[in-house]
Amino acid sequence: MSDTTTSGAATSGATDGVATGASVATVDLDAARAEALAAIAATAPGDADALDALERRYLGRRTSVAARAKEAIKDLPPAARPEAGRALSAFTAEIRAALDARRAGPVPAPVGPPPLDLTAGGHGRRRGHLHLVTQTRRALEDVFCGMGYEVVEGPEVEDDWHNFEALNIPPGHPARAMQDTLYVNLGEPEQVLLRTHTSPVQVRVMQARRPPIYVVVPGRVYRNETLDARHSPVFHQLEGLAVDRHITFGDLAGTIEAFVSAFFGRPVRSRLAPSYFPFTEPSAEFAAECVFCDGAGCRVCSHTGWIELGGCGLVDPNVFAAVGIDPERWSGFAFGFGLERVAMLRHGVEPIKTFFENDLRFLSAY
Ligand code: DAH
Repeated sequence: MSDTTTSGAATSGATDGVATGASVATVDLDAARAEALAAIAATAPGDADALDALERRYLGRRTSVAARAKEAIKDLPPAARPEAGRALSAFTAEIRAALDARRAGPVPAPVGPPPLDLTAGGHGRRRGHLHLVTQTRRALEDVFCGMGYEVVEGPEVEDDWHNFEALNIPPGHPARAMQDTLYVNLGEPEQVLLRTHTSPVQVRVMQARRPPIYVVVPGRVYRNETLDARHSPVFHQLEGLAVDRHITFGDLAGTIEAFVSAFFGRPVRSRLAPSYFPFTEPSAEFAAECVFCDGAGCRVCSHTGWIELGGCGLVDPNVFAAVGIDPERWSGFAFGFGLERVAMLRHGVEPIKTFFENDLRFLSAY
């Protein structure tokens, strides 16, 4: 009962000059707080003058709401003063915080990921480029197109007749042993194969069109060979064929010298040395002056001053006969060489497997 009495006395005291939690004497702090917060919220953020005026009105030293409440506390019985003091402190702190927040101006947008800037530079996208063998093929195609040749291609899976027989290499001919062949398990045994050279495309072109013919044939070829520094079971060749009236060995020699110089980008001497190929008569191996020592002799050219590039010769009459071209009316020359080999010489790349290992250091260097 005594509790009830005390509480009842305090409640009535709110109007009679006794403090309660949110009122100090005759000052209604709850009402004043609501009024002050509304006034602060209605003030433009950062409007210092208006906010200063509000501070004076509610918290100022002399006539403000807080000043009046403080005065009223002094009139309270000592037992009621602490609670009234706490209520006033809470009021003051809340109003000051609201004023300070309003003075700070508009609330900045929350910090998130930076906005997307479409004009900013990026990491870039690394672009690939053509493989050195393709670059070499294209460079040579350019050189020959400049001399009036046309680029043609043929199948990589070939038949025995085009790859050997029509090229004057009949079954049992020792020249077959020079090109270890990979046969495909199709049709008659040993009749379908991965072409061992690009020369069968000579045959296909001469079957399909009549002279004059000026073509080059780039392409991939296959041999049953063990990989070593200079040999690979897969590599690329470029074949050339010219058939016209009165073609001579001189035309062949001049053509080789022209393309070798164009490919290496400066005058490079070439030479033809007697050799043997079944599909040319006479036949030769052609070599270029060593581009590393200018013919003086070095390790690359085995101190000969010359580097063998490929084979060539005048088209054998038997080949013309196989494709139905009259060797009495037409003559021609042919040549063939390895693309990797000339690329190795021009760019100093070794060994040959570098071309197809796909090591990024090689791929990006060339
Ligand atoms: N086909 C020959 C080889 O792969 C290269 C060759 C020699 C091609 C003489 C020719 C040529 O056109 O006339 O070894």
